[in-house]
Amino acid sequence: MDGNGRWAKERYLPRVLGHRSGLKAVRKSVEFCHQNNIQFLTLFAFSSENWRRPIEEVSFLLALFQKSLEEEVAKLDKNNVRFKMIGDRSKFSTKLQDLIQEAERLTQDNTGLTLTVAANYGGRWDIVNAAKQAALSGHVELSEDVLSQYLQLQFAPEPDLLIRTGGEVRISNFVIWDLVYTELYFTDVLWPDFEIKHFYEALSHYSGRDRRFGRAGVDQEVLSENTVDP
Ligand code: FPP
Repeated sequence: MDGNGRWAKERYLPRVLGHRSGLKAVRKSVEFCHQNNIQFLTLFAFSSENWRRPIEEVSFLLALFQKSLEEEVAKLDKNNVRFKMIGDRSKFSTKLQDLIQEAERLTQDNTGLTLTVAANYGGRWDIVNAAKQAALSGHVELSEDVLSQYLQLQFAPEPDLLIRTGGEVRISNFVIWDLVYTELYFTDVLWPDFEIKHFYEALSHYSGRDRRFGRAGVDQEVLSENTVDP
C-alpha cells in the first residue's frame, strides 16, 4: 500500500494524513473483496524496516492500527471475515498485542474473506523464524514442505496476485517465500487514490496472464506429446 506520503505531500499535508486516507482505501478494498468472494486479502501495513521512520510517524501508524482494531473488528466479524496478523507482534505494546489476539480469536471460525494484516513483517525474518520454529519442533532435516508449515502465511494458499501501488517496482521484503509464482502488478496510482476501478484493472490484468508454474506452455506440451515416440 505504497504512496501515502506522496499523496499527502501533493496536498501540502503532513505525511500522517496520507496514512489516514490510506485507511479509507483499505476499507474500500476489504469491502470489494468481501462482495466479490475473494477469499484472501493480505495487506502490507508496516514493514520491519518502517521502524526507521520518524518516531511520530511510527507512533501514528501503530495508533491507527490499534484504533482500527478497536472500532472495526465487530463489523468484520458480522460480515464473516476472519482476521489474521502476520509479523513479529512481540515489539508492539501489550494493549495492541491483546487487541490483535482478541480479533483473531473472535473471528477464527468465520468462513468468508480472510483479511491478513502484515505488521512489523519482513519476508527474510519470516523464513529465518520458520527455520527456528522447525528446529525447535525437532525437525533435523529441513525441506520446503517442513519449512512452509512454519511460515507466517501457512494458513493461506500462495497468493495469486500481488498489487503494489505508488510506482515502485520491487517486492520490498514482503512475503518473499510465498510470492515465487505470484503474478505481480505494479501501478503508479498512490494508495489513497486506489479505487474499485483500479482493483478491477489489476484483476483484468491478472486474468490475461498465462500461469505455468514452471511447466511449458500448452502449445509446447501438445507439440512434445506429438513428437515423443509412443
Ligand atoms: C507506505 O506509503 C504505507 C505505509 C508504510 C503504511 C500503510 C498504512 C495504511 C494504508 C493505513 C493503516 C492500515 C491498516 C491496516 C490499519 P509511504 O508512507 O511509504 O508513502 P510514500 O512512498 O509516498 O512516502
